[in-house]
Amino acid sequence: MMHSHIVGIGGYLPERIMTNHDLEKIVDTSDSWIRERTGISRRHIIGREQATSDMAAAAARQALADAGLTINDIDALIVATTTPDMIFPSTATIVQSKLDGKDFPAWDIQAVCSGFVYGLAHADCMIRAGMFRRVLLIGSEAMSRIVDWTDRTTCVLFGDGAGAVVLEGREQEGGVVGSVLHADGAYRDLLKAEHAHGHASPDSFHREGIDFATDAAGIAAVEMKGNEVFRVAVTKLGEVVNEILQRYELEDKDIDWLIPHQANIRIIQATARKLGMDMQRVAQTVKDHGNTSSASVPLALNELYRSGQLQPGQTILLEAFAGGFAWGANLIKWTKQGFSNGT
Ligand code: UT7
Repeated sequence: MMHSHIVGIGGYLPERIMTNHDLEKIVDTSDSWIRERTGISRRHIIGREQATSDMAAAAARQALADAGLTINDIDALIVATTTPDMIFPSTATIVQSKLDGKDFPAWDIQAVCSGFVYGLAHADCMIRAGMFRRVLLIGSEAMSRIVDWTDRTTCVLFGDGAGAVVLEGREQEGGVVGSVLHADGAYRDLLKAEHAHGHASPDSFHREGIDFATDAAGIAAVEMKGNEVFRVAVTKLGEVVNEILQRYELEDKDIDWLIPHQANIRIIQATARKLGMDMQRVAQTVKDHGNTSSASVPLALNELYRSGQLQPGQTILLEAFAGGFAWGANLIKWTKQGFSNGT
């Protein structure tokens, strides 16, 4: 029987950093409010000339180098994104072309911040079914292009970046143990970007001397009822981590690392408490990345991996909660040895 093993990991964060103090200049907020309510201190913002596909390609190059593979060793390419370069073609085909990939299927999936967790479940099922041997899975987001930079309740939360993994089917035990996915469209109005479109060519937006590559304020932007999202997220994430442990007959104490979606440190702490986990065993990047939507879980995984703390034999739990609402979790029995530095 085939098992999906992660054999390469990569990440990319744009050069430009926006701190909470930078945000104080454009909306009525404070560094202390943002840190206390969210745990965020800074976030990366995509360059004016960059697109979601450029960040995705950069993360993919690092993952491929880490795996010791080239793009044409790949059998399928999936990009999870909420901020595609354009409505079509898919960002995945644009990434394929930027990486000089030929002749393998490439497509996007959209489950907002849960995109990577959903994508990992898809890729794992296709590898187990024998359809593909190697899948390149990327989460890439230019959230700064769909936030309303005049709305302090949302613009302080998000950041840009990309994370990627190469999955390979092997008969060896371990790798992805399984996944649990959920959605409930009854909540769809609590978190949405109703009029958003493709974002490869941003309009410019200038404010207080800061030059944003973003859509015009408020027109195609993220709208969120933060309080309600928070409440449901804590409940559903608590339920889904219990469900996945029960399904695969594991207990809280069997989890070595929690790699949660990085939306808010208070949500992350609530899930860790539910699992009785020390925060030392929880990947935490929200402070430096903000919420990078579908890129958040693979970026957190990449940081943990490159810190040298992930060891073969450890069990890791990934989880995410997103607009829709769509949420889910994956369990992985880690098998990869150390990393090689990619491009
Ligand atoms: O990734 C997908 C899932 N997304 C999430 O999981 C996000 C979930 N929601 C959250 O993380 C939190 O609800 C927020 C961080 C968005 C907000 O935190 P909160 O503790 O729920 O604050 P709140 O919305 O209850 O607002 C408290 C106060 C309000 O003022 P009043 O009405 O009490 O006078 C807000 O207007 O804080 C005010 N406020 C701000 N103040 C300074 C809201 N945003 C800001 C801000 N700076 N940026």
